[in-house]
Amino acid sequence: MTERYDSTSARHYAAFRPPLHRAILDRVIGPHEFFPVGLDVGCGTGYSAVALAKYCDRVFGLDPSQSMLEAAQRHPRVTYVQGSGCTLGRIGMSQFDIVTFAGSLFYAKAARLRRELARVCPPGSTIVVYDFEILLNDVMAELGAASPAVASDYDHCVNLSDWAECAVVDGGAERLRLKVTGSEMAHLLLADSFRYDALVRRFPHGDPFASLVDCLEHFRANRHLEADIYFTRYRMVGS
Ligand SMILES: C[S@@+](CC[C@H](N)C(=O)[O-])C[C@H]1O[C@@H](n2cnc3c(N)ncnc32)[C@H](O)[C@@H]1O
Repeated sequence: MTERYDSTSARHYAAFRPPLHRAILDRVIGPHEFFPVGLDVGCGTGYSAVALAKYCDRVFGLDPSQSMLEAAQRHPRVTYVQGSGCTLGRIGMSQFDIVTFAGSLFYAKAARLRRELARVCPPGSTIVVYDFEILLNDVMAELGAASPAVASDYDHCVNLSDWAECAVVDGGAERLRLKVTGSEMAHLLLADSFRYDALVRRFPHGDPFASLVDCLEHFRANRHLEADIYFTRYRMVGS
């Protein structure tokens, strides 16, 4: 992967992210619920921490990757801290009212995380585990740039339902449809290395972004983004 490619894909990644975190949290958190202190474990570049800030006075976004945190979106109520699910003590808070895992539990789930959560989440506190998968294969096929599926053991449905101290309150899985513009769809497609390569092969002359937007604007009658979403809300009970 070249440095030029890296910065191009990062630019497309930064240019558009669909508002899925907010859409999912709105399904499991009521409009009048409010939490004093929230924690987002595995916050990456901050989309999930900023989405949680809508419901909290103060949010801590925790991630082991310093480069993710350096690129994270700033927000007046969000503080970013480097660390993993096994080092919640680094944040310096003795307890949280809500903890979220957005696409991060697959990496963070461990016996040590369980002990750390039991320590910082008092009975009655809330944990939300959620994830999503944006479905772009049909769009790539429609553009004549379908690429073979990449094998992965990643599990979008990983959850805490096997931990007795986490009582399920709510949960579900749905397919969402969001309206997007041609430019938004083009940014989304070009932000991924495999799709970027396939689209550069498909549009070899000039700027692939401009060709792609042109193609999407003219040939796709209904521009909708589809995503499968997965979410579970838990209440901590005494162990
Ligand atoms: C798919 S990203 C999700 C980022 C963010 N939550 C979002 O929704 O945009 C997964 C994140 O989990 C983080 N991660 C990996 N191992 C972790 C661990 N043991 N504890 C906490 N986070 C971890 C990665 O650094 C990465 O930022």
